[in-house]
This record gives sequence, C-alpha cells and structure tokens, in this order.
Amino acid sequence: MKSVFKISLLAGLLILLPSITFSQTSTNSNNRKKMKIMVTGHKGFIGGHFVKTFADRYEIVGYDLKDGDDILDYDKLKERMKGCEVVVHEAAIPAPVPGKTYEDYIQTNVMGTFNILKAAHENGVKRVVYASSTTVYGIEGGIPFSYPIVEGQMFVSQYLKADDLSCRDIDLSYHTSKVMAEQMVAWYGLNKKIQTIALRYGPTEHVNLGSHVSILNVLQATRLAVDSPKEFWYEAFSIVDEDVDYIDISKAREMLGYKPEPATYPKDKVVATFEDRLKLDKHE
Ligand SMILES: NC(=O)c1ccc[n+]([C@@H]2O[C@H](COP(=O)([O-])OP(=O)(O)OC[C@H]3O[C@@H](n4cnc5c(N)ncnc54)[C@H](O)[C@@H]3O)[C@@H](O)[C@H]2O)c1
Repeated sequence: MKSVFKISLLAGLLILLPSITFSQTSTNSNNRKKMKIMVTGHKGFIGGHFVKTFADRYEIVGYDLKDGDDILDYDKLKERMKGCEVVVHEAAIPAPVPGKTYEDYIQTNVMGTFNILKAAHENGVKRVVYASSTTVYGIEGGIPFSYPIVEGQMFVSQYLKADDLSCRDIDLSYHTSKVMAEQMVAWYGLNKKIQTIALRYGPTEHVNLGSHVSILNVLQATRLAVDSPKEFWYEAFSIVDEDVDYIDISKAREMLGYKPEPATYPKDKVVATFEDRLKLDKHE
C-alpha cells in the first residue's frame, strides 16, 4: 500500500513539472530575477541558437513539435504558456519546402500564429515577438519586388499581378502565410493592446537575392525585442546585415537599438546573388 502511495506521489510530481524549462534557478549570473519566456520552435535553427545563447538570461519554456508539443494543440499551448511575460514565436514551416501544400502553410504558419496570439492574450502575456521574414516584401526568384525596401511599403500580395509570377506554389504559399500571420500580429497589437513586435529576418546564414543576415544579428535583434523597455503596439522591423544595401534597417537601429555586427554568414551558401536581383523587373 505504502509503495503504491509513493509511486502515485512521484507520478503526480512528474506531471506537475513543466516539461522543458531551460534553467534550474530563477536568477541569472548577475543575481537578477530571470524573465520567464516561452520560445516556440526551440529545437529549430534560430530558436535553438536563442535558447543556447540566452539560457542564463531568461527562464525559458520551450515548445516544439520535435518534443510532441504542437502549436495547433491550443489547450496544451495555453497551459504551458502560463506565467510567461514574453513569447518568442519561431515555430513555423520556415521556407518554401517542396512537398508542402498551401493548406500546410495555413495550418502551421497562420493558424499556429493565431493560437499563439490568442493564448498570449488570454494568459496576460506582456509581449509577443514574432519571427516574420523579409519575404513579406516578396524577395524570391520568380516574384517581382520593389526596392529599396522600407517597412511601410506594400506587402507582396498587395502589388502582384498574376501574370507577373513565375514562382512555384510553395514560394507564394510561404510568403503570403508570413503576411497573413503578421496581419494577425498587427490585429492583436492594435486592437487588443498586447505588445507585438514582428522581426522581419532576412535569409539567415545564407544569401538569397543578395540579402542575408548572420545568426548573431538575428539573436541580437530578438534579444532587444524581448528586453526593450519601450511599448510596442505592433511594430515591424527589417533585420538584415548592414551591408545589404537595398533593405533599410534604420527603424530597427532607432527604435530597438539594433547595432549589427559585421556580416559573418557563410559566403558560399548562395541561393541567388545580387546580380540575380538586378535581373528581376523593378516594380514601380
Ligand atoms: N532561417 C531563415 O533563414 C529565416 C529567415 C526569415 C524568417 N525566418 C523565420 O524564423 C522562424 C524560425 O526559422 P528556423 O530557420 O529556425 O526554422 P526551423 O525549421 O529550423 O525551426 C522551426 C521549428 O519549429 C518547429 N515546428 C514546426 N511546426 C510546429 C508546430 N506545429 N508546433 C510546434 N513546433 C513546430 C519545428 O519542429 C522546428 O524545430 C520561422 O518562423 C521562419 O519563418 C527564418
């Protein structure tokens, strides 16, 4: 009887433990109380680097499909988010992936982001930092785009003509899924006054149409977005290395304090070059 009691007590304790929290103490090495944040997609490229780099800075709750945690499972997501001040939302289908359908992008990237925002609002989370992309401007082979690029310009879906396109289904599916998700990030910020920040990262650690950003700069911008003492009722920032001459990063410099380190991306990882960009029609 006694051992049955012990076993059920142990099982109860295990259930109560949050499944993945990346810190043993609630203070960091400077003896400051750690901010509790959720990082979705923490088993992926950007989320993984974020967790590794800032494990001492924050109390991090990871949430990733690779651990069986699906952002489409609303009740589980909401429960696990409880007590977090900030959510860094990196989980997504992060690129045009052959074999994925338009519906896959709508489910994971759009509905998944809706769940994050709804759960954040219902849990009283202070701020959501959303991993957006410079693809909202349409930077992809076969999709014409205008440049120089500033945050206030039209999204890709606002200026395209069907006859202008020579891309694959998945290219436009990825790009417009990021636009749709960002519109919901805007809705929650503007309408529900939950602080929302969209970081429109460039191609990370590779070059696409002459654009790139190193992981170090992505991490810097993401940390600044988490920590900023300012209030942001939806602001979007382009985040690329400073030598990408056709994407303006002055807004991130001024409002977030983004100071990109010199570019360190692998120069041989090139999807499309600067010259390929010049071959595309300039959209007027
Ligand atoms: N890597 C880039 O070049 C780049 C550029 C611009 C924007 N972004 C954006 O940054 C974010 C992170 O990109 P990444 O390169 O780290 O991608 P990644 O594929 O390496 O990581 C994404 C993670 O999300 C998880 N995930 C996918 N579906 C999920 C679901 N339903 N529930 C929970 N977790 C799920 C995956 O298991 C994976 O670990 C994405 O939103 C992407 O669109 C990436």
